[in-house]
Amino acid sequence: MKSDDFRPRAHAARIAGVMALCFVLNAAPAGQPELWPQGTHRANGRADTEVFVNQLLASMTLEEKVGQMIQADIGSITPAQLRTYKLGSILSGGGGAPSNDVRTTPQAWLDLTTAFFSASLANDNPAHQAIPIIFGIDAVHGNAKIVGATVFPHNIALGAAHDPALMRRIGEATAQEVSSIGVDWTFAPTVAVVRDVRWGRAYESYSENPDLVAQYAAAMVTGLQGEWGTPDFMAPPHTLVSVKHFLGDGGTTGGRDQGNNESSESVLSQVHGAAYPAAIQAGALIVMASYNSWHGIKMHASHYLLSDILKGRMAFDGFIVGDWNAQEQIPGCTKFSCPAAYLAGIDMLMAPDSWRQLYDNTLAQVRSGVIPQERVDDAVRRILRVKTLAGMFLRATPSQRSDAGHFEVLGSPEHRALAREAVRKSLVLLKNEHGTLPLKPSSQVLVAGEAADDIGIQAGGWTIDWQGDHNTNADFPGGTSIFAGIRTAVTAAGGSAIFSREGQFSKRPDVAIVVFGERPYAEFEGDRETLAYWPGDSHDLQMLRRLHSQHIPVVAVFLSGRPLWVNPELNASDAFVAAWLPGSEGAGIADVLFRAADGSVRYDFTGKLGFSWPQTAMPVTFEPSGGVGGARFARGFGLDYTHAAHLPHLSEQAHIPPDRAVPGSLYHAAHVTAPWSIYLSDASAEVRLTTSQQISPQGAVTVAQSAAGSTATWNGPQRSMVRIAGRQADFRAQAARGEQVEMRFRVEAAPTGRVQVGVRCVEPYSRHPAEAPPAANGPPPDAALCAQAGGAMLDLTRIFQHAPAGKWTTLSYSLSCFSARNADLSNVAAPLAIETDGHFSLTIADIRLVPRHGAAHCGGA
Ligand code: BGC
Ligand code: BGC
Repeated sequence: MKSDDFRPRAHAARIAGVMALCFVLNAAPAGQPELWPQGTHRANGRADTEVFVNQLLASMTLEEKVGQMIQADIGSITPAQLRTYKLGSILSGGGGAPSNDVRTTPQAWLDLTTAFFSASLANDNPAHQAIPIIFGIDAVHGNAKIVGATVFPHNIALGAAHDPALMRRIGEATAQEVSSIGVDWTFAPTVAVVRDVRWGRAYESYSENPDLVAQYAAAMVTGLQGEWGTPDFMAPPHTLVSVKHFLGDGGTTGGRDQGNNESSESVLSQVHGAAYPAAIQAGALIVMASYNSWHGIKMHASHYLLSDILKGRMAFDGFIVGDWNAQEQIPGCTKFSCPAAYLAGIDMLMAPDSWRQLYDNTLAQVRSGVIPQERVDDAVRRILRVKTLAGMFLRATPSQRSDAGHFEVLGSPEHRALAREAVRKSLVLLKNEHGTLPLKPSSQVLVAGEAADDIGIQAGGWTIDWQGDHNTNADFPGGTSIFAGIRTAVTAAGGSAIFSREGQFSKRPDVAIVVFGERPYAEFEGDRETLAYWPGDSHDLQMLRRLHSQHIPVVAVFLSGRPLWVNPELNASDAFVAAWLPGSEGAGIADVLFRAADGSVRYDFTGKLGFSWPQTAMPVTFEPSGGVGGARFARGFGLDYTHAAHLPHLSEQAHIPPDRAVPGSLYHAAHVTAPWSIYLSDASAEVRLTTSQQISPQGAVTVAQSAAGSTATWNGPQRSMVRIAGRQADFRAQAARGEQVEMRFRVEAAPTGRVQVGVRCVEPYSRHPAEAPPAANGPPPDAALCAQAGGAMLDLTRIFQHAPAGKWTTLSYSLSCFSARNADLSNVAAPLAIETDGHFSLTIADIRLVPRHGAAHCGGA
């Protein structure tokens, strides 16, 4: 049934197949197209475009057609290769940059886009005119990968501003900055309607409310591309959009990134799908498919949602681009080969490092009939149609474009003023006792907190690099930290501002402004188990309480990618401002907090919550009736200077269920603990577990999920590994304290070869120069062992051989085993890795770092 499921087939057969699958997957309610809004084909009435596209298509070779259906990343393709392999598009992903230097110059970017564009035009087929690439980048909050660009607030902040006209202006400014480096296309806007903000991408969402997301998405699309249906559309300096991620990314169970959306079809259509018709109507020509599943079926494999609904019912006649190697998550596919994704309706696969094998394999699959010629022609027709409508055939090479090379638009005073306006409008005032705000600018102000003078924290993820967690103020020339903005405002009015990260002072201040919040993250690295703000670290709260107890008025400015449970911090503050991730123009905060020198209010608060703010550390719930449960502040809440409201002392009970509050947990209650992920790797590559069943690229190891836990089965003969990994962290202190790894497991089949267990130091998908490259070709490099000579793995073969099969057993070993063997634990990415080259099957139920008990030991091996 599996493979059949991806082939185009008679409607009745498809419905039957889907229904059978529904049954298996617990009644997936698929197959009611009438629940979806109906669209009208845009191409109708554009006969000239269609004629041009069809003529071009008729003169193309199969190789050229397959090339159009693939997008490669600059990290893995050169312009010279593009002359040979005429691909449809080139991207620079989250961590990519010219010469691998994310802090390079705008000129280097322009040189790069020029080199690729020119290579795509180097025409060796005299039968038709050259087909230009489109170059894509994640300009998700301004052209924020580029040093010196204006970094706008992230979407969650823009949603709180409730100002579609502002969004449109931001779209226009972003397009101008994107165009200045010769980029044609941004992977934005994200139109996820996020229901569980434990999701690491919550900040990419405008609101939990579908109508607002639809409205703001349309405004952003129009700003970026220009007004559809007028000569303004895609006239320089506009930029193609991709509306993403289709579909249901904001509704996965538990808010797990790339997880499973279990909504009914009507919720899928009305909530998660709400923005697509609006964005398409506003002229969106490209939709990016999502990593997530719907009732266990990966979106990249869903013929029903991609082809029947989006292209059929909604009449979308642009193209669907895949997400970064998402094809490898489809059963039966690898990142190098995936007819199922094309058959489901993806027109262009994002194959960053896998493009070349994908090209060969796809070509062979078309020749052998696995992928029908009509599907190829449909995909290429769509891609050419978009390129034509976007004017790509008329665009000069980037270095010759009128809108490129004028780098003064990057971070121009106008754009920075616009970003600052957006910051002002996005601030939401949650508490303001006894008129603490607005402040007198002639005050003596103490500014405290680690985020007060740190533009990197203000900017969050998707800034300069993917995670945005290596940036300092020096990476934002022309940008302003929140402290710098306050200092300018008060010194101009005769006051003074001093910054002390720890909130120390020698002269008692009139007021303390404490700026604190989440450190940058992106995608799954931002997933959380609960909404508690910084579990296990109460350092900010202690500072707020200390200042408060000294009777200094305390203004809390909270930076976060989502509403978090901060009742204790709210109690310890006199005023509390949710400032989200404001970006490079931190002065927008002082604009609102301080009066003018003459005592008048310069800017009042106008921001209102786009998301419910939680009452406990667990997420707000959405009733099918439309009601919302568990909110402390409802969506739409926001005080201002004329509407005061006393906030009573709030309960400081977090109400975290016991199964979520396990300290040191890596794996618990049959799932890997956020933000950790399970990865499987073998000789060819590594893949992240995102479904109930995942097989490594060459099939050497599988992980299957059940109510009891996760069962890993190694099939030999090559060395393959299962690891629990995430962002690199320093484990030296834990090792020194004698902490131990404790694992509860059940052997299903005893090992036939040597089993090693240990720590690994290479971050998944890592591109940071200090780290080794991801294991794209061949087993993870030995540097991954955190040690010179493999000292970071323990041989636990005997333990697993002697553990009673089918019975739960607990094993532990001290982290100091590794340091004792000279392993460097300062940058551990995977606190647990299990590797063998034999046959072995093991179910894990619990993995934790526990305090030392008894003497240090190395698992008895
Ligand atoms: C993300 C997309 C992004 C793409 C390219 C993916 O991992 O899900 O949102 O556009 O990478 O960087
Ligand atoms: C890329 C991102 C991508 C991620 C995978 C990173 O290396 O830069 O664009 O989203 O890998 O999820």
